[in-house]
Amino acid sequence: MNPAGVETGWSAYHTVLIFTACVFLLFMPASLYTSRQRPQKFNSDQLVIVEGMNGPHPIPALMAEAEDKYRNLLAKQSKSLVDAVNEYRLRYGREPPKGFGDWWKFAVEHNVTMVDEYDGMMEDLAPFWEFPGDELRRRAVQIGNLPSVDLVRVRDGKVVLMDIEKSESYDRARAQFFVKLIARFQSKVAPLPDMDFPVNAKPEGRVLVPWEHLQFPNMTAPNSSVNVDFMLGGDFTAGWRGTGNVWEAFRRTCHPESPARRTNASNSTDPALESGDDFHFPKTLDTKFDFCSNPAARFDQGHFFSDWRTIPALYPLFSNGKAPGFSDILIPSHYYYNPTPTYSYAWDNINKVVKGFDDMEIPWQLKNDTIFWRGATTGGGATPAGFADRYQRHRFVRLANDHSDSRKAVVFSDPPNSTEYQHANVTISKLNDEVMDVAFTKWTGEDGYIGGEAAVRKAYRFAEPVPLGYHWKYKYLVDIDGMGYSARFLAFLASDSAVVKSSVYTEYFSDWIQPWLHFIPLSQEYHEIYNIFSFFSGPTESMLQAANSSTLYDDSIVREAGDGDRRLRRIAQAGKQWHHIVGRNIDMEVYVYRLCLEWGRLWADDRDSMNFTMSGLS
Ligand SMILES: *[C@@H]1O[C@H](CO)[C@@H](O)[C@H](O)[C@H]1NC(C)=O
Ligand SMILES: *[C@@H]1O[C@H](CO)[C@@H](O)[C@H](O)[C@H]1NC(C)=O
Ligand SMILES: *[C@@H]1O[C@H](CO)[C@@H](O)[C@H](O)[C@H]1NC(C)=O
Ligand SMILES: *[C@@H]1O[C@H](CO)[C@@H](O)[C@H](O)[C@H]1NC(C)=O
Ligand SMILES: *[C@@H]1O[C@H](CO)[C@@H](O)[C@H](O)[C@H]1NC(C)=O
Ligand SMILES: *[C@@H]1O[C@H](CO)[C@@H](O)[C@H](O)[C@H]1NC(C)=O
Ligand SMILES: *[C@@H]1O[C@H](CO)[C@@H](O)[C@H](O)[C@H]1NC(C)=O
Ligand SMILES: *[C@@H]1O[C@H](CO)[C@@H](O)[C@H](O)[C@H]1NC(C)=O
Ligand SMILES: *[C@@H]1O[C@H](CO)[C@@H](O)[C@H](O)[C@H]1NC(C)=O
Ligand SMILES: *[C@@H]1O[C@H](CO)[C@@H](O)[C@H](O)[C@H]1NC(C)=O
Repeated sequence: MNPAGVETGWSAYHTVLIFTACVFLLFMPASLYTSRQRPQKFNSDQLVIVEGMNGPHPIPALMAEAEDKYRNLLAKQSKSLVDAVNEYRLRYGREPPKGFGDWWKFAVEHNVTMVDEYDGMMEDLAPFWEFPGDELRRRAVQIGNLPSVDLVRVRDGKVVLMDIEKSESYDRARAQFFVKLIARFQSKVAPLPDMDFPVNAKPEGRVLVPWEHLQFPNMTAPNSSVNVDFMLGGDFTAGWRGTGNVWEAFRRTCHPESPARRTNASNSTDPALESGDDFHFPKTLDTKFDFCSNPAARFDQGHFFSDWRTIPALYPLFSNGKAPGFSDILIPSHYYYNPTPTYSYAWDNINKVVKGFDDMEIPWQLKNDTIFWRGATTGGGATPAGFADRYQRHRFVRLANDHSDSRKAVVFSDPPNSTEYQHANVTISKLNDEVMDVAFTKWTGEDGYIGGEAAVRKAYRFAEPVPLGYHWKYKYLVDIDGMGYSARFLAFLASDSAVVKSSVYTEYFSDWIQPWLHFIPLSQEYHEIYNIFSFFSGPTESMLQAANSSTLYDDSIVREAGDGDRRLRRIAQAGKQWHHIVGRNIDMEVYVYRLCLEWGRLWADDRDSMNFTMSGLS
């Protein structure tokens, strides 16, 4: 189902593993992985069996391409303010915002790596250039007054969380930490311009602007000076309360001719997605997946069933993550910025700080070759109810505990660690016993599971909750979206284990991280997960048995960690390095600082007076 599939490339092969000093420094100890690989060929009689398999194993090429891309990205970052200004003009066709020189200085002082990569932020903000400053200001205050939205205000260089009486109470942690984040860097830099940030209190994206409004803003945008109810088509409650659902709102963001627009029933039971190819490895996460063209895919993503009402007009709303089609503006999550025992690697529970190492971390050689996941049933709401079986976490727990006779096509090297590849159809129950340890730990009730807790506990595996550090015992850590983005991701990256991530969410760092280098991207349907395992960890006994491999009977073959294991470790280390260099709190501050300058300019009546000028150097 992923259109951005892998091409089994031959040419990419020759660029494999030629590292520059820069890459060495950033990703790995020099000795770790230097060998050149011989091409890995398949017997021609196997070609027909595993579709897409007609050359070397695709994973080394994906890794090599990822390394190349990231190396080039690092190498082309601006080295001076003049470079950065030119790069900005080139990319965005306008002058950088006032204060850009100070921002540059701050970023450089803090060794920020990704100084030019703000395309995501600029895309988030682009629609707001259509309104004049007064319209934007009015909309920000209007939405900031709604329940489930907080208003963060900057005036005279001071940032505060506005105390506005709301008709419904809700957790304000996201906005509280956004205030903290701004306050921290604000104390070290020139005063910020005046502006307001309406902050989404929920993890899901919230703004879904109909296609026609985004295409023709000046012809169709309603008049906000009437009032917000007029703009939103009625009284706003945080929840849907039976008056709509996310899918109905989402499909209006699609082209009028698109399948999503033409399918009207919001809870018809479309057929499940075609079972995908077990040997298809996506290059990226599905953050650009086209739900407009694939309406049936909505059943597999819980956010389409969210209980929280979306906003059907172009209002500015600052959110932690967003799925394709949403118009929210991204800011870092409080889960990342605020250290906690649940979400921070190396948390020191005595001194309540993040320290240099995690007490529960263990050496790679001692880590268990198992795909591990624990978590709550969070994953979507109950609007409409009855679809939880297909939410992303439910599907994964079910797949990994499938004890039926169905089979998966698995490719593996035989003999192990050789370049001879075999394939076999292996019974899923055996595979799951060998490679998976996946369970829910808690039922949250939010998924509206039919039959309630008793039914969900009967249908799914549940296990005792584990502390974050327990994960480090395993080589493969799976990360799957909950109600929104998965807030464990940065902690998982920080660990010495490798992260396998499936997501449709864009976050503030999405332009800065490289799939297949820092983590392994997993498709929405997870079909390929057994082939990810067999590539990196080699064949399991059931794979060799299914192929009736002579290896099973040959005692002289030493089955120990080989080439794949080194590659997996390399991904684990690259992820850790990334977290250390690009995923720091200061990188979040630098991101928000730059957002403040852009937003401050949009906020102004006279945007033209808010250009950065080299001569003024401010
Ligand atoms: C600011 O930059 C824009 C182009 O990015 C330009 O049109 C405008 O004239 C500039 N304003 C001033 C005061 O120079
Ligand atoms: C930036 O990097 C330099 C050189 O590695 C180092 O000396 C300095 O302490 C770093 N500064 C910060 C703020 O991390
Ligand atoms: C809407 O804006 C576009 C470009 O910004 C312009 O070409 C068009 O004439 C405008 N239409 C109306 C009705 O103002
Ligand atoms: C918007 O509404 C206000 C008051 O209701 C009115 O004064 C103004 O002219 C309207 N603007 C447009 C563009 O229709
Ligand atoms: C949904 O679409 C079908 C077929 O196009 C049509 O007959 C039906 O009236 C539509 N229902 C609604 C509620 O729009
Ligand atoms: C979904 O289906 C149920 C029963 O088939 C129906 O009662 C309900 O109104 C439907 N909900 C929506 C939002 O279409
Ligand atoms: C590896 O983990 C699995 C699943 O958690 C467990 O059954 C197995 O005993 C562990 N193996 C070792 C060597 O600890
Ligand atoms: C695996 O299953 C597929 C489809 O059922 C079949 O075409 C193929 O021959 C099987 N391969 C082996 C090695 O048994
Ligand atoms: C499996 O392999 C062994 C040894 O190579 C052979 O004796 C046996 O007949 C094979 N079994 C099947 C079912 O192919
Ligand atoms: C696995 O293969 C690689 C490359 O061919 C080789 O360097 C390594 O020593 C092998 N490892 C084992 C455990 O056989």
